[in-house]
Amino acid sequence: MKDDTRLVAAGRGRVEPEGTVNLPVYRASTILSPDIESYLRRFDDGRAYEAITYGANGTHNARALAETVAALEGGCRTVVTASGLSAITMTLCAFASAGDHVLVTDSVYGPTRRFCDEVLARYGVEATYYDPGIGADIRRLFRANTRLVFLEAPGSLTFEMQDVPAIAGAARERDILSAMDNTWATPLFFKPLAHGVDISIQAGTKYFAGHSDLVIGLVTLANEALHRRLADTVMAFGEVSGPDDCYLALRGLRTLSVRIRRQARSALALSTWLAEQPGVRRVLYPPLPGDPGHALWRRDFEGAASLFGVVLDTSDRAAVARMVDALSLFRIGSSWGGYESLVALYDTPLPRSAAPWAEAPFLMRLHIGLEDPEDLMADLDAGLRRLGESA
Ligand SMILES: Cc1ncc(COP(=O)(O)O)c(C=O)c1O
Repeated sequence: MKDDTRLVAAGRGRVEPEGTVNLPVYRASTILSPDIESYLRRFDDGRAYEAITYGANGTHNARALAETVAALEGGCRTVVTASGLSAITMTLCAFASAGDHVLVTDSVYGPTRRFCDEVLARYGVEATYYDPGIGADIRRLFRANTRLVFLEAPGSLTFEMQDVPAIAGAARERDILSAMDNTWATPLFFKPLAHGVDISIQAGTKYFAGHSDLVIGLVTLANEALHRRLADTVMAFGEVSGPDDCYLALRGLRTLSVRIRRQARSALALSTWLAEQPGVRRVLYPPLPGDPGHALWRRDFEGAASLFGVVLDTSDRAAVARMVDALSLFRIGSSWGGYESLVALYDTPLPRSAAPWAEAPFLMRLHIGLEDPEDLMADLDAGLRRLGESA
């Protein structure tokens, strides 16, 4: 079965109750048992991972979403969490213990880094940050107590690619787990588990949900032992995503393929055009042939997100603000993956510590939505003209 079919067919019963196309929303805390024997046996034989036992452990909507994502990821099982960030933090908590060492890409999403530095450190887990371009040389950083390698490709803000099979393969040789934040590509365009990664993480908030109206996280595990470890941790923390958000995320997921492909087509046209414009020093987008990560992206990925960075060729903060404020179709805001275009601005130094990022005074991040690309180009063109004008 192809992914486009999976996106429609997975996670659905043959006929839903009352004949609805979509599974209705099951709102629940208490789940009633038909008799006391069933109640007493509700956790027997691993049934806690199957049966619906209590609202905080997820209802039918979480299970249907998890089943669909597991099918798309080619994984054993998927666990739903409250946000993309909690999918990451739950993974780190589940697989690292006091005295352990974890390796995290230096290009990682900022709040992941903050969690490692400010929370994991207090619980006795040491994180070190590696150059995202390290490849199989990551071996040199392994210690006797290294438990997990964390990847993200392309990385947040700098959009640096990673050689995922080389890094995951080196980790596996030493029985070290690997986990990847794959939110940018989604499993439609890159399947971490098929490239040797053990744990695939998705901020479902972005392209899965697709409409900027909820936060949710998903973690897909390569085998049942990993699934149980994560599911037990998530349950112990009382981590849960509400049924309404699970319902909406699954509804968004059904149309992921058409949305992201259309948005990526526009993103390629706009990023190519932007790279030639005065005032733009560099566009950070692996699908562009001149991007340093292009060869890896071509080798391993089957498509791209519609999110990229633009390094501006100015240190005039006021001029940049004038430019951004002049945009009308690109609204100012964080997050991404919705149907609408967005712009965000980051002052340096970026979280990524290494040069050359340190020297770029501003990084603009654009998310391309489903608007007509010619309208978006006209909007950006008008904005860029403001960049060149004096106040
Ligand atoms: C790459 C990446 N991973 C994870 C997250 C976290 O997702 P959430 O906002 O659902 O916590 C984000 C959010 O911006 C992100 O950009």
